[in-house]
Amino acid sequence: MAFTFRDFPVAADDLRSDVLAGLAACPKSIPPKYFYDEAGCRLFEAICAQPEYALCRTERALMASRLPDIAAAVGPLDCIVEPGAGECSKVRLLLDALQPAHLVVLDIAGAPLAAAAQALAHAYPQLAVTALGMDFIRDLEAAAPCLPPGRRLIYYPGSSIGNFAPDTATALLARFRRLAGADGRLLIGFDLKKDPLLLHAAYNDAAGITAAFNLNLLERLNRELDADFDPTRFRHYAFYNPVAGRIEMHLVSLAAQTVSVAGRRFHFALGETLHTEHSYKFRRDEFSTIAGNAGWKLVDDWEQQGFAVQLYG
Ligand SMILES: C[S@@+](CC[C@H](N)C(=O)[O-])C[C@H]1O[C@@H](n2cnc3c(N)ncnc32)[C@H](O)[C@@H]1O
Repeated sequence: MAFTFRDFPVAADDLRSDVLAGLAACPKSIPPKYFYDEAGCRLFEAICAQPEYALCRTERALMASRLPDIAAAVGPLDCIVEPGAGECSKVRLLLDALQPAHLVVLDIAGAPLAAAAQALAHAYPQLAVTALGMDFIRDLEAAAPCLPPGRRLIYYPGSSIGNFAPDTATALLARFRRLAGADGRLLIGFDLKKDPLLLHAAYNDAAGITAAFNLNLLERLNRELDADFDPTRFRHYAFYNPVAGRIEMHLVSLAAQTVSVAGRRFHFALGETLHTEHSYKFRRDEFSTIAGNAGWKLVDDWEQQGFAVQLYG
């Protein structure tokens, strides 16, 4: 078993400065990458098991049923790189089918990533696994020296690309392009535009797990930034905006209140929102344009029940 873990600690200063800047802005907002403390990672896995949230299940089913086609289209390669790998579970199908010598996984939640990647290294003794605990928005280029030479596939499942507005998504995909190298490939999964009521239900599950995930951000700020948010005074509010083509997730203040964060005080008016996440939905052609603007050419694509996986080279 070959396993390496390297931590690029997300500076506590980043969290502090991003949150203070976001709370001072109008409208208030906090980047979604801060959802993922240990509790946030567990809650995300629980969201994937909710009956209303078909995204993860559909992607897995698509990957399983089309795996031979996908593997043939990807072709031989030396290394899979997965940004935002989380539990490192989705990549297993590709490891089985493509049998690369190396896997490099990146996640801002370094400790859960290290545990998941180490378990993977045990399960695949022939595979060299490198886990990088990093904020890839900030540090992606620092991953380059950790990659072996040879042909690379960037694997970015889960519709995580939907958390970025189209321009920012193009900029991130262009950085993936440089990391992949001239003969590299990108296999990316994203959620398609569909009945807005289905989308609405997916982010408003009856068990309240997405609400708990959203509100956990306030608990994190209480713990890590010495804040005094009362989560019972904020409402998880998520809806599909068909004009912008995205789910918007907010924490809406249920009262006029003042909150202290890292020694600074912020006022929330009754009904004022703290925006926490966008989750863009795409048509396949829309997404090809975004990826094309980043220098990727569409090689193949697959669709199943409102979810798409596309291969670029
Ligand atoms: C929605 S989950 C998806 C997990 C997994 N890829 C899947 O498809 O099930 C997003 C993952 O990306 C990670 N993540 C989010 N923003 C990140 C960033 N800026 N840098 C590194 N990891 C990030 C989170 O910690 C989380 O594990």
